[in-house]
Amino acid sequence: MSFKESFLWGGASAASQVEGGLTHRGLATYDFMTAGNKNTPRKVSIILKDGTKDFVYNFRKDDLPVGAQIELNDQLYYPSHEAIDFYGHYKEDIALMAEMGFKCYRMSLAWTRIYPNGDDALPSEEGLQFYDDVFDECLKYGIEPMVTTVHFDYPFHLSKKLGGWINRASIDYYLKYCFTIFTRYQHKVKYWLTFNEINLLLNNGYRSLGFCSSNEQERYQALHHIFVASAKAVALARSINPKFKIGMMLANIMSYPETCNPKDQLYCMETARMTRYFYTDIQCRGEYPAYVLNAIKKKGIDLIMEESDRKSLKNGTVDFIGFSYYNTSVATTRKDKKVTEGNQMMAVENPYLEKSEWGWTIDPIGLRLSLNDLYSRYQLPLMIVENGLGTIDTPNESGQIIDDYRINYLRQHLMQMKIAVEEDGVDLMGYTLWGPIDLISSGTGEMSKRYGLVYVDLDDEGNGTKKRIKKKSFDWYKEVIQSNGEILE
Ligand code: BG6
Repeated sequence: MSFKESFLWGGASAASQVEGGLTHRGLATYDFMTAGNKNTPRKVSIILKDGTKDFVYNFRKDDLPVGAQIELNDQLYYPSHEAIDFYGHYKEDIALMAEMGFKCYRMSLAWTRIYPNGDDALPSEEGLQFYDDVFDECLKYGIEPMVTTVHFDYPFHLSKKLGGWINRASIDYYLKYCFTIFTRYQHKVKYWLTFNEINLLLNNGYRSLGFCSSNEQERYQALHHIFVASAKAVALARSINPKFKIGMMLANIMSYPETCNPKDQLYCMETARMTRYFYTDIQCRGEYPAYVLNAIKKKGIDLIMEESDRKSLKNGTVDFIGFSYYNTSVATTRKDKKVTEGNQMMAVENPYLEKSEWGWTIDPIGLRLSLNDLYSRYQLPLMIVENGLGTIDTPNESGQIIDDYRINYLRQHLMQMKIAVEEDGVDLMGYTLWGPIDLISSGTGEMSKRYGLVYVDLDDEGNGTKKRIKKKSFDWYKEVIQSNGEILE
């Protein structure tokens, strides 16, 4: 038997990609992002000072022109407003998860469902009750909720009032939100993650930082505030319920050196440091590593760090590392490297690996390597909180979705995960695959990039019945869970 009896099998989602229910919450920055596709980035509509309309692009780190206002443009489609309407379908969706035998559902809360403006004196009872109902529904089936406090989310009102995470005051508003949810749900939720994919936030633009800036100094400063907020949230959570388990959440995109040229190897090490270890070192060891301080100094960045911040980082180290795993990249000093476009996970292509329809490399062995890499560096329990294949699914004439390609992808990854546990001795808490019920793509805003074991009848413009249909992978995953990972065929 390779996996513990308590192994947390399940699935994961994010509020902005599933919930909808906009009339019952405040606007968040992600509500201003249109859909794009693999070649066209998602955009945010703005009105310039002279009244003309223009756009800023989320992942291109555009600046917001002086005096420009961010607006909702009624000519455009915003996928988060309705999404797959988990808000109206949560009972049905959780019942489907229960039927697959889920032990865990990783989900995020919409900050603006709790504090619609971010700075409200009191939380919204309606919003709090909604999540009470969702947790009760999970617990009814023995499904353990795991909650991400912020998954690419920031209240729109705070972005106007404070200018986003660049403003230190964001820390206090975030902690107030955390105090509310930790207290309210302390008897229903044991597992928490603070910020989703914290290592992508620096470049995640308006949606996560709450402001648009091409200025690195500003973005690193905002990131520093997020680190402090996260660490303080960890300490706060423990003071409310010492039984909580609180993790960090990393997008684990490791790179292979392209050649055995020591220059490529060195570049590979530097890439690992600046894109992953920077974050895990701070959140697991409680301080900025010297290589980061030196590297940002070299860039001319002068971080404003209050004396108490150092203490907060030290007091707020995590209990476990949650990470997403989709693809790997290649570290090369070549100038003509080819990078996948239009996605939030840009990576250099690898000739030894196949790619998904969205250009993401498919690398099951990379998962075993990632598990070993993180475990040997920190010896903390790990949890794979996202993994999966985003692809086009087409129902056949009888309306069935025979997604053997997804089963194959998941099987390959689970086999490597098993080796990492069984042979390498990695301490793994669980595995929640991404988007068990089809959801809106975060990177491109499309519906047609599907990860689910359950199909949702909805297209890229928001048309469809939102009916849920089980795919072939549904029964396959059910058997995997039933056998605690022994049967992967
Ligand atoms: C991760 C995010 O980056 O990858 C999810 O935490 C996201 O929100 C997932 O959906 C897959 O990315 P995409 O762009 O295919 O939705």
